[in-house]
Amino acid sequence: MSEPFAFHPMDPAMRRNPWPLYARGRRELPVFAHEGLPIPIYSVFRYVDVQAILKDDVTWSNDFTPLPFVVPEETDEGGSVTPPSMLGLDGDEHARLRGLVNKAFTPRIVSRLEPGMREIAARLVADAAAAREVDLVQALTYPLPVTVIAEIIGVPAQDRARFKAWSDQAVSLLGAGFFGGVDPERLRRQRALLVEMRGYFVPLAEERAREPREDLLTGLVQAEHEGSRLSHDEMLSMLVLLLVAGNETTTTLIGNTVLELCRHPDQLARLRADRSLVGTAIEEVLRFSSPVQFDPRRATREVELHGQRIRENEVVLCWLGSANRDESVFERADEFDVGRERTAHLAFGFGPHYCLGANLARLEAIVALEALLDGTRHFERKGEEPLPLHASPVFNGVTSLPMRLEPV
Ligand code: HEM
Repeated sequence: MSEPFAFHPMDPAMRRNPWPLYARGRRELPVFAHEGLPIPIYSVFRYVDVQAILKDDVTWSNDFTPLPFVVPEETDEGGSVTPPSMLGLDGDEHARLRGLVNKAFTPRIVSRLEPGMREIAARLVADAAAAREVDLVQALTYPLPVTVIAEIIGVPAQDRARFKAWSDQAVSLLGAGFFGGVDPERLRRQRALLVEMRGYFVPLAEERAREPREDLLTGLVQAEHEGSRLSHDEMLSMLVLLLVAGNETTTTLIGNTVLELCRHPDQLARLRADRSLVGTAIEEVLRFSSPVQFDPRRATREVELHGQRIRENEVVLCWLGSANRDESVFERADEFDVGRERTAHLAFGFGPHYCLGANLARLEAIVALEALLDGTRHFERKGEEPLPLHASPVFNGVTSLPMRLEPV
């Protein structure tokens, strides 16, 4: 009898090296039924299946509110404490909300932020290199994304320690509910946090209504005031989503870039010798060490996939991290190659919910990597012990990255 398929997404040992299990999943168990979880959950490993599911938002919903463990808490007025953001909506409702903000993230608009971004990154790297030994998460990979998104939204960058605490807590439980790992007290704290985050934006939104500025917050306040386009509650959910969605993810991407380059010194040397590879290097990190490992969906009807029956309101986990190592799509899929040409990876998802901040995240990572290459003669990990993993099983990232840097 073949070995049991020990695929436990909350297990730290598996999270540190999921690749062999993904490969076996793709080969033998393309739809794996988990056992002993609060609701029936299936993991999907192949690129074609992941892509097809993410594309079809009629069969596969991103709204998890019908599930038993996502009972929305009611406010005193009977409304929901946490009305859904665009991420938790499907179809026209999703398109309406996304349409209100996607203009702020086009390549043209994003490229206008580049000079400011380069200045911040150069300063952060210069300070880090002068210190010689730093935790790179504190020194670079976190401050850059949070400062940039604060500027886009129009919230004071000085509040970034608060945003960090919020983002950390907001995403710490992400995905854990599927595996039964969330106790009611933590859920209660999570909801209190959302209320606090929304409360933070209320006076700022009122200020923009009185004194408009050139920022996203003003745009949203104006959309709200135009009546039916955006309700006050939706605006607050949108702001919370934008503030947290890009922080942990981009921090992880920049951190994973540094980690992979430390693990593959030959690839780092190639990059130092040929800077035209920086863009493809970031795409390769997105593919090879995807920051977001899985993307869940809820079945809206009964479906059969590779002989497995999935009933209405059961959940599939689309393993982006596995799809991105699928050998039927990528040659030498387990090889890290900063010059790889074909990288149609799914690290930013696919279909209607494709990451709104993908252009921004790419640019931030490119800018961070270039600043690091420009500002250091050499960088390496300090110590070899395993680094602390992010609490959420969704993320493939570390929360601390002690490094030694040699300034130019
Ligand atoms: C490396 C960095 C990033 C990664 C890997 C990433 C990944 C993803 C993924 C996989 C999705 C799809 C979720 C789904 O299908 O349910 C998504 C959606 C989203 N991302 Fe990102 N993201 C990153 C950076 C950012 C940034 C910088 C922002 C800035 C605002 C952002 C904002 C969003 C938003 C608003 C959505 C929801 C889009 C929708 O529902 O239509 N992300 N992201």
